[in-house]
Amino acid sequence: MVAKTTAQGTDQGKDSGDDDMTYTYDLIVIGGGPAGYLAAERAGEAGLSVALFEKRALGGVCLNEGCIPTKTFLNSAKIYAHALHGERYGVVASGISLDHAAVLRRKAKVVETLVGGVGFKMREKGVTVVKEAAKIGGKTGEGFLVKGGETEAVAPKLIIAAGSKPIIPPIPGVADGLDAGYVYTSREILDIDHIPDSLVIVGGGVIGLEMADYFAVAGSKVTVIEMLDKIAGPFDAEIARILKKNLEAKGVMFLLGTKVTEVTRGGVKAETGGEAVTVEGDAVLMSIGRRPAPEDMGLEKINVLVENGAVVTGKHMQTNISGVYAAGDINGKFMLAHTAYREAEVAVNHILGKPDEMRYDAIPSVIYTQPEAAFVGDTEESAAAKGLRVVVKKLPLTYSGRYVSENERGDGICKTLIDEGTGRVVGVSLIGGYASEIILSASILTGLGVPAEQAKRVVFPHPTVGEIVRETLFV
Ligand code: NAI
Repeated sequence: MVAKTTAQGTDQGKDSGDDDMTYTYDLIVIGGGPAGYLAAERAGEAGLSVALFEKRALGGVCLNEGCIPTKTFLNSAKIYAHALHGERYGVVASGISLDHAAVLRRKAKVVETLVGGVGFKMREKGVTVVKEAAKIGGKTGEGFLVKGGETEAVAPKLIIAAGSKPIIPPIPGVADGLDAGYVYTSREILDIDHIPDSLVIVGGGVIGLEMADYFAVAGSKVTVIEMLDKIAGPFDAEIARILKKNLEAKGVMFLLGTKVTEVTRGGVKAETGGEAVTVEGDAVLMSIGRRPAPEDMGLEKINVLVENGAVVTGKHMQTNISGVYAAGDINGKFMLAHTAYREAEVAVNHILGKPDEMRYDAIPSVIYTQPEAAFVGDTEESAAAKGLRVVVKKLPLTYSGRYVSENERGDGICKTLIDEGTGRVVGVSLIGGYASEIILSASILTGLGVPAEQAKRVVFPHPTVGEIVRETLFV
């Protein structure tokens, strides 16, 4: 289905006198992360010819330097912590240590396997993968012209899925520290070859908390500095407090309502309530958020609208330019891999003429610390901010027999929110073992807007910790 044609009707993006071949596709995808590779996979499945440009590695941030590598780190921390505290469960072990070099090797192996799997999928679906940085040259009669290295492609449809980058704030010392190697972003920290004696983490969001857990368990003296007066951003405030307490029990120190003013070798200077504080640290992790990365791709050549640094998209993931879509972190809406997957499907369905649209009201969020925390839909705080009247049904996880069997001194809770008007489940928040998996059932109830009375008739397996979601409905 891929036709070779010579590029005609444009000089943009081509050197004068260039007579390279241009390959024609039905769809070009820029970016091979979760949004890009899933869009290519779905489109390939549907019989479209697809070219996918990826400048680094298939799998993007998620597989190479985000979701997956952090989960390998945290799984090692979990096993290590279990072994250390096994005596609570009648398991006595000695001489236990965490071998960070082995953790890194395993991480590399896991990433390699999964990235290989994405490559396999692309071949299986007939997707042409171009391992080059894509530059949009302009629009010809045949569609959007994209060049990467020696490859030039044209297609009537284009999906921009170029992802995001860590935010590097203009705080004095950060840029120098990154150059010198004692300041890290989420990318470099996953390759750090040692456990620093002390680590200052700037930002108490998802990355900051997950890394605080791993490095504290691995032996670092960790301090998390958070500008706001609570950690874990949009998570339920009570759950954020329980999480903080659990991380403190592992030795993590928190400075809330504190703003970093300078980073130096050996630590950071910060300000809290008008007072200056100094926090010592051999290494500093900057985890104050990520931003979409719409630059250097030539979006301006086809006048794609970028506002506040993000590509503007509608409910079908379409941009302001007909035929051009944007999915994943690049649109800055919900920077999560699972949002990216769904956005990619919506974009491809629109291209295929299938009715579909993106909803953002039931996207689950998970923090993979021990204990895990997760929520979907509204929290008490977001419901109040919207003026939504909800009934809050709350239980400690100790209502679950399995939770009690497996957690000495477990302090997990689950809160289910029911809309007072409609009686539908509009949100679930919980903290405790397996929260990342339990939130799946809650996502279905919330995503489909299932009435609580109907949800009560669903049979959950016993004994599971996940039964707690059903149990809260009876409170
Ligand atoms: P984040 O937005 O989750 O948290 C950043 C935190 O830094 C916020 O609490 C903010 O108040 C704080 N902050 C901002 N400026 C600050 C300053 N100057 N001093 C002190 N604190 C400051 O961002 P994070 O943790 O970097 O994660 C980036 C992205 O990656 C997020 O979109 C997140 O959803 C995604 N991610 C998701 C994961 C998951 O789903 N488990 C895991 C890791 C990342």
